Amino acid sequence: MSKILAFETSCDDTSVAVIDTNYHVYANLISSQATHEDFGGVVPELASRLHMQNIMKVTEAALNKAGCTLTEIDAVAVSVNPGLIGALLVGVSFAKGLAYSINKPLIAVNHMLGHIYANKIENADLEPPYLALVVSGGHTELVDFKAYDKFEIVGRTRDDAAGEAFDKVAKLLDLGYPGGPIIDRLAKQGNPDFENFPRAMKGKDIFDFSFSGFKTSVRNYLESHSKEFINEHLSDITASVQNAIVDSLVSKTINYAKKHSIKNIIVAGGVSANSLLRSEMQKKVKKISVNVYFPSMQYCMDNAAMIGAAAVDKFERKEFADLSLNAFSTKGVRFI
Ligand code: KG4
Ligand code: ZN
Repeated sequence: MSKILAFETSCDDTSVAVIDTNYHVYANLISSQATHEDFGGVVPELASRLHMQNIMKVTEAALNKAGCTLTEIDAVAVSVNPGLIGALLVGVSFAKGLAYSINKPLIAVNHMLGHIYANKIENADLEPPYLALVVSGGHTELVDFKAYDKFEIVGRTRDDAAGEAFDKVAKLLDLGYPGGPIIDRLAKQGNPDFENFPRAMKGKDIFDFSFSGFKTSVRNYLESHSKEFINEHLSDITASVQNAIVDSLVSKTINYAKKHSIKNIIVAGGVSANSLLRSEMQKKVKKISVNVYFPSMQYCMDNAAMIGAAAVDKFERKEFADLSLNAFSTKGVRFI
């Protein structure tokens, strides 16, 4: 059993984790950058600078929490794409320097693959084949995994990501950032059928997603109603918004699973924390005898434990990066 020190700095969270090759997490610290809340979204330049300030402290704290020293670390893992390039570069540079100084291998991890592997932390035996629904602030993808390194993206968003749809509606409603968790909370008291917002790209054989028409329709709806009405029905409106986004995600995933006789579905990315997505998916898979896996809440949003988890296979296969490793902002589950 070996220990991996993992870094995640792709967006606005500086996260450092210690995890072993049996997926046991010793520490998973996340320093969130509250500064961005004042801007209603992440400011890339600020994110990079805050990572610079935080990364050393968070690393020391993670090692402390894990009760281990650098001499007990067997490899260093870091997310290299996709993400904000300046933010990624802080993590990659730090991880490279550290790996070099302790003379241990460096492992490059795709952030989206990290989200998928978050599911392994509590289900270490989970192996492909499975269908992954990857839903975050920047991605909405259905990925059909035949093996850990053999997969096809069978559906993707044509415009906004699911998390982005939550965030943009929350911005229209002036609710704060990130919008997903706020809408999730408000929606709990609301009627999901209060307003029927459109679901795009309907059809049993269409696995791509689209949320921009939906967002425009929410904007038109809000513009055509008074502030008083919106405030009075805030929970109903947010419940209807959530219902439309989740309905799209669940129906396409289930349709694909049925068509291709999928036996296991895994949900990954920040939106996998959504309570309606979790309950609807669980309800629907029961009817078709399919298993569904979600990460526990602490591993849904960006965190370094998931990066460490995605590094385990690579560690065992000795797929190491050299010290010329670079970060890149390319979207998608591509880099393995
Ligand atoms: O994976 P993540 O932490 O960062 C990216 O890689 O993008 O995902 C962040 C996204 C945000 O859009 C946020 O609003 C959304 O995940 N999110 C949620 C919930 N928690 C986070 N969306 C819906 N319901 C939630 N409970
Ligand atoms: Zn993420």
